[in-house]
Amino acid sequence: MKRAKISIIGAGNVGATTAHWCAAAELGDIVLLDIPAVGDMPKGKALDLMQSSPIMGFDCQITGTSDYADTANSDVVVVTAGIARKPGMSRDDLLSTNAKIVGAVAAEIKGASPGAVVIVVSNPLDAMVQRTWQVTGFPTQRIVGQAGVLDTARYRTFLAMELGVSVEDISALLMGGHGDTMVPLPSCTSVGGIPVTQLLSTERLAQIVDRARNGGAEIVGLLKTGSAYYAPAAAVTQMVEAIVRDKKRLLPCAAYCDKEYGVGGYFVGVPVVLGSGGVERVIELKLTAQETANFQKSVAAVKELVAAMAKLV
Ligand code: APR
Repeated sequence: MKRAKISIIGAGNVGATTAHWCAAAELGDIVLLDIPAVGDMPKGKALDLMQSSPIMGFDCQITGTSDYADTANSDVVVVTAGIARKPGMSRDDLLSTNAKIVGAVAAEIKGASPGAVVIVVSNPLDAMVQRTWQVTGFPTQRIVGQAGVLDTARYRTFLAMELGVSVEDISALLMGGHGDTMVPLPSCTSVGGIPVTQLLSTERLAQIVDRARNGGAEIVGLLKTGSAYYAPAAAVTQMVEAIVRDKKRLLPCAAYCDKEYGVGGYFVGVPVVLGSGGVERVIELKLTAQETANFQKSVAAVKELVAAMAKLV
């Protein structure tokens, strides 16, 4: 069977760590690309990773480059290019810089890998996914944003810490935009099949949701020099695996919604089925009145961000 080709644009913290997790899981051959201004850094990281393969026991080619020709005909392209948050910056502060970077990257992807599924990671996520779609013009199914898998992982981690149980037993779902306006769904959170509401008070659950919502800022505050990358890269890897292995995973991702949830043509965090074609289906849940109100607030924030971006690019 032919190996999948996975290109990662941006060989910084998230990009290089994604290459690491994807290689360790033998998901395919990997191309790590960055701008010429960083010199041979992508080549250095790629070679270093390759040299870990005899020890870690994975067979894949890892190439570092600044030339999009090396990414030609990728099956999956992951976009992590851009600047990361520093303390005091919100994801929206990144809007202007990253909209330009992601627009330029999207144009290159369109030329080099016209059949790829594109996973966008750069922030502010919901706007960057929209930008990638605008520039590539790819079918909406082949453009997807990573946010929900990470936000849900943070939420599941904090729940496991609180309850003193394995993270493997926590199943949860979040919707909406990445970060401040994400919408938790307590009705879709269970611990070994037990509804979480039977194990935690509403107040404690709200505190845990809040910590997950600010999970990115908490890491920025601790690192001081950049933003999270282990968990974001792990989240991307799960999405890459769903695509290259056609696993049809049901995951929360930023996906294009038009009639779905009445969103009207924007990428927002919703549960989707992710397989070789990208977003194969958006799952429409029956939300409570409160969840609907929270989701609409989140969608409104995404629309505002996209409108602000339109004035900058
Ligand atoms: N093309 C390719 N790579 C680029 C471009 C470009 N036009 N512009 C910048 N880059 C590269 C940088 O040179 C850098 O190596 O993107 C990389 C970003 O890496 P980091 O600064 O380490 O940032 P990282 O922590 O990886 O975050 C990247 O992901 O989670 C989001 O908010 C985060 O938007 C940020 C992105």
